[in-house]
Amino acid sequence: MQEQLIQWYPGHMKKADRQIREKLKLIDVVVEVLDARVPYAGRNPEIADYCRGKQHVVVLNKSDLADPEQTRAWTERFLKEGADAVVAYTAVDAGQRKKLTETIRSCNPKGKNELRCLIVGIPNAGKSTIINSLVGKKKTQIGNKPGVTKGQQWLQAPDQLALLDTPGILWPKFEDQEAAIHLAWIGSIKDTLFEKENIAGDLMNFLIENYPGRLEELYGITVDPDQPAWTVFDAVAEKRGLLRKGGEFDYLRTSEMLLNDFKNGRIGRITIDRADDKTGETE
Ligand code: G4P
Repeated sequence: MQEQLIQWYPGHMKKADRQIREKLKLIDVVVEVLDARVPYAGRNPEIADYCRGKQHVVVLNKSDLADPEQTRAWTERFLKEGADAVVAYTAVDAGQRKKLTETIRSCNPKGKNELRCLIVGIPNAGKSTIINSLVGKKKTQIGNKPGVTKGQQWLQAPDQLALLDTPGILWPKFEDQEAAIHLAWIGSIKDTLFEKENIAGDLMNFLIENYPGRLEELYGITVDPDQPAWTVFDAVAEKRGLLRKGGEFDYLRTSEMLLNDFKNGRIGRITIDRADDKTGETE
């Protein structure tokens, strides 16, 4: 389980931390982008520190892939925990842009005309998609502002929002093994770094416990919540005819299928980190 840490060894984290603090100097609003399926695992441990003295907007992005009830619960939780605003969002849906600009605009205690924003989040959360959707196809740059790293450009978004053109890249809570597994399920950590069958086995247990009906529907099987995961693998492999030579069930292909079905939303809208849990993680 050590390999997945490759891209975030301490040197990288220190550099990312320095870069983000540099960018934060002139920022009014920190727009924290979370994947709504993993609002716990995808959260950066330093985020509260980065938001000190600034307005803090949490964007629960990819809400089209998440369980709407959990997204509502996470919204309440983040507001209770001190975020200035929280918005459930789908960056790939252009029709939602106004909802986000209005939310950011509502975080303006000093009544400024122009609000300077930095979009931050872990890789793959949807930061670039959000910047592009806010700014639109015709990117208008609005020149350098003093005090920020040279070469850093500002982009004009509607409602007098100025966005730094490069997002702040944060590292996830990967030092927590459970969180790392959750990030692998959604494809934020390459699953080639894991034993696919182990990752899929954990996912199957989660689905049996939390969304058994979805498994039944997609694969045409019956799932008993007390049933061990491997027996559900057998049932799925049998239904889909995933057999090896000699007629044994092909667990690798079944695992790959489950992981792909999950990533591509075929199992439905699912939130992995539960808002009612103390840490937000599943037990
Ligand atoms: P990043 O800058 O934070 O690293 O993320 P980026 O915008 O590149 O988005 C990562 C992937 O997530 C992209 O898919 C993007 O289309 C998708 N995405 C972003 N926002 C949403 C959303 O609200 N809903 C859905 N369903 N998808 C969203 P991609 O380029 O095809 O990459 P991948 O899906 O193959 O990883």
